[in-house]
Amino acid sequence: MWNEIKSNIYSASVYFREFILFLVFVVVIIFLLIEKLTLSIPLILLLLVTGFIILNLIGRRRIKEIDEIKNIIASIRKSIYKSSDEIILSEHLSGLENEIKEMFEKAKNDIEYLERLQRMRSQFLANVSHELRTPIFSIQGFIETLLNGAIDDPKVNRHFLQKANQNTVNLSNLLNDLIDISMIESGEMRMSYRYFDINNFIQNILNEFIPLAEEKSIKLIFNPSKEGLQVFGDKDKLRQVLVNLLQNAIKYTDEGSIEILLAEEKKFVNISVRDTGIGIPEADLNRIFERFYRVDKARSRAVGGTGLGLAIAKHIIEAHNSKIIVQSTLGEGSIFSFMLKK
Ligand SMILES: Nc1ncnc2c1ncn2[C@@H]1O[C@H](COP(=O)(O)OP(=O)(O)O)[C@@H](O)[C@H]1O
Ligand SMILES: [Mg+2]
Repeated sequence: MWNEIKSNIYSASVYFREFILFLVFVVVIIFLLIEKLTLSIPLILLLLVTGFIILNLIGRRRIKEIDEIKNIIASIRKSIYKSSDEIILSEHLSGLENEIKEMFEKAKNDIEYLERLQRMRSQFLANVSHELRTPIFSIQGFIETLLNGAIDDPKVNRHFLQKANQNTVNLSNLLNDLIDISMIESGEMRMSYRYFDINNFIQNILNEFIPLAEEKSIKLIFNPSKEGLQVFGDKDKLRQVLVNLLQNAIKYTDEGSIEILLAEEKKFVNISVRDTGIGIPEADLNRIFERFYRVDKARSRAVGGTGLGLAIAKHIIEAHNSKIIVQSTLGEGSIFSFMLKK
């Protein structure tokens, strides 16, 4: 009992200054009103006792409120609440209640975000390991077969070596793409923007694809836009995007043509790569930009794909404050396009 009163008074001590001020004020009033000292002394004593009781009451209330807040915080810490609606404080603390609810929501969202990130990381690692294993196992398999005697069989030895070689190419493509992805992740991918001639840029890249297109009897079409047309961007990174789009177009087209279209708008130039290839099923359209996502894994691997090209392209185009868009009809072809600032 005595201890409780002591802690109540201690708790109310934050209001001591105000309280003393009030007492002094009342004592002065009493002195002024009652000149007889004998009468004012018991009055002051009475006042002191009342003051003491009031302090005790205030302190008790303060302790109760602090306890209420403490309990709520402890419950949050112990993850007792599932949603912020379960957090209820007494009415006169409702301002604080909202504040605590918002804090709870924020912490909950942060944790969920971190958990999602963690899951994505684990999944990415699992994908990477799987993707690395595929070519390595193939190379091992071919080499073992050769060592076990196939090396002396002129009907297959070259073929097996070529297969093994193709897999080392795949492995190296994968590592290069992984290095890009990790640079993007860590924010180390430095962009360097400047103006450059878009017609020359595209023509140069297309020239490299002529042998590949001829091999598959696919027509490469490009009608240059207005001479000297300049766009603003990171030339090397955009080259990577275009190379990937053209590689895809050739890989996933069996016959017909691949066309690069330039459409000049007021402040932008729209660049599209259109093919007459196998197309992409509607359900896969918004997933092909995800890392390692391929419509047909076997086909992608067979032609040296890593499943990372479009993920990298998307990132590069977004770094240009632009967006990469795909339209496709299964069996008819696909168009990938993006805008660049003039
Ligand atoms: N021009 C295209 N025509 C048909 N499918 C495409 C085309 N471009 C991309 N795809 C699909 O999107 C997937 C992801 O592309 P990308 O990230 O470049 O990986 P990949 O290394 O497999 O080419 C491909 O595996 C393929 O299924
Ligand atoms: Mg690709």
